Amino acid sequence: MFVARAGLEVFGDEARLKWAIGHLIDNAIKYTLPGGEIVVRCGHLRDGRAALEVSDTGVGIQPKDLPHVFERFYRGEARTPDGRLIDPRGLGQGLYVAKSVVEAHEGYITVASRAGAGTTFTVALPVAETPTEDTLPHQRGGGAAGRPGGLDGAARLRAV
Ligand SMILES: Nc1ncnc2c1ncn2[C@@H]1O[C@H](COP(=O)(O)OP(=O)(O)OP(=O)(O)O)[C@@H](O)[C@H]1O
Ligand SMILES: [Mg+2]
Repeated sequence: MFVARAGLEVFGDEARLKWAIGHLIDNAIKYTLPGGEIVVRCGHLRDGRAALEVSDTGVGIQPKDLPHVFERFYRGEARTPDGRLIDPRGLGQGLYVAKSVVEAHEGYITVASRAGAGTTFTVALPVAETPTEDTLPHQRGGGAAGRPGGLDGAARLRAV
C-alpha cells in the first residue's frame, strides 16, 4: 500500500507506484535549472480520486513535444530560455512506463506545461475503500475519510 498522507490511501503495487512517482521527480530534477523549485503535493481531486502532483519551475515542454511525451522512446527537445539544449541521458521510456503503471491501477496521469515556465504532472488514483473488519481483518484503522477537494501536504525541493 502506498500511503500518500493520513486519511488518503490507495491500494496497489507499492514498488511500481513508487517507481512511477519517483520517475516524475527524477524528470523534474533533470529538467529544472539550478535555483528552480520542485513541489510535490497530494490531496483529493474533484472526481474523488487521490492525486499526487509533481510540479517544477523548469524549462517546460515545447508545444510540439507535449502531445508525445507519453509515447515510448519519445524524447523532447528541452531547451533553456536562452536556447541551450538540455540533454540529460535518457531513453524516452520513463513517462511511458509511469503511465502504464498508473493505468494498471485504474488511474490516469496528465501533464500541463509551458516552455520556459515549468511543468506539472498529476497522477490520479482511486482512493482505497475504507477497510472494514470483513474486508481487511488486519487493518490499522483510519481509512479513506480525508478532506474534500484541494491538494495539500506540499513538499518542496530546491534544484541545485
Ligand atoms: N519535468 C519535465 N520538464 C520538461 N520536460 C520534461 C519533463 N518531464 C519530461 N519531459 C520531456 O518529456 C520527454 C519524455 O520523458 P521521459 O521521462 O519519458 O524520457 P526521458 O526523461 O527523456 O528519458 P528516460 O527514459 O531516461 O526517462 C523528455 O525527453 C523531456 O523532453
Ligand atoms: Mg525521464
